[in-house]
Amino acid sequence: MTRHFLRDDSITPAEQAEILDLAAELKRDRWAQQPLAGPQTVAVIFDKSSTRTRVSFAVGIADLGGSPLIITTASSQLGGKETPADTARVLERQVSAIVWRTYAQKGLEEMAEGTRVPVVNALSDDFHPCQLLADILTIREHKGATQGLTMTFYGDGRSNMAHSYVLSGVMAGMHVRVASPEGYQPRADIVEDARRIGEETGGSVTILTDVEAAADGSDVMVTDTWVSMGKEEEKAQRLRDLGGYKVTTELMARAKDDAIFIHCLPADRGYEVDSEVIDGPQSVIWDEAENRLHAQKALLVWLLRQQGE
Ligand code: CP
Ligand code: NVA
Repeated sequence: MTRHFLRDDSITPAEQAEILDLAAELKRDRWAQQPLAGPQTVAVIFDKSSTRTRVSFAVGIADLGGSPLIITTASSQLGGKETPADTARVLERQVSAIVWRTYAQKGLEEMAEGTRVPVVNALSDDFHPCQLLADILTIREHKGATQGLTMTFYGDGRSNMAHSYVLSGVMAGMHVRVASPEGYQPRADIVEDARRIGEETGGSVTILTDVEAAADGSDVMVTDTWVSMGKEEEKAQRLRDLGGYKVTTELMARAKDDAIFIHCLPADRGYEVDSEVIDGPQSVIWDEAENRLHAQKALLVWLLRQQGE
């Protein structure tokens, strides 16, 4: 049966754990799985800029024996010229999976409805679920397990990253705090979905405006840019509104002594995080960036396996 990965909860908590176990195996033995041998091609489409996602999918697909086909929207017929569903029906005759970084979540849903090959969200305005697989893998590596940990996200709580932390964090049994000003708090329907998942996993979601209280006792401190791709016109307003939500060494000192700091990158140093924190001893951002490779390879292996079942 074709399974897609459009948002964090497109998979169950048990499936998330299964994919992360596989990611750890692939990290130990990088060429152990070759489901794309042939080579089969995977289309990786970008409507927005990327370094990590582009490289990790391209390298990962090659590691799995396949061939990555990187498409930028500006040089294709997508992006208003052809519908996602029509594009998918052309691609599915030639590729084994479609990975897409785009704006509206709806486009991904239309793409998935239109095709029998797996569609993967490589970042939309609403979610960045591939990043979260890497982040949860990183937290597992540094903390041993995720169950019962407290993770605090600072900044734009209505962003793709915040929404994915809320969903994936709760799926992994974590207590997720989001510290954001009024007007930047996570979408209520996503918080509700996460709370429903938390009834099964023991995880929870707390929305706060108090920056310092949000850090107290945290195991994982996390932030992201205040100006996501597509929001550039709001930059001045966002810097004013979110200015108090910076992760500083003082804030890190309120978290647990062994707390780690993560950031999906790219970072606007001096804005959402001070260089002393991102370059400091508690930061695990380079492991996190590397783990994009291992996590996404595991995701692709798992999605391709579902195709045969
Ligand atoms: N974290 C992340 O997705 O980075 P890129 O925008 O460079 O792909
Ligand atoms: N929230 C950021 C994440 C970049 C990986 C953005 O959407 O630009």
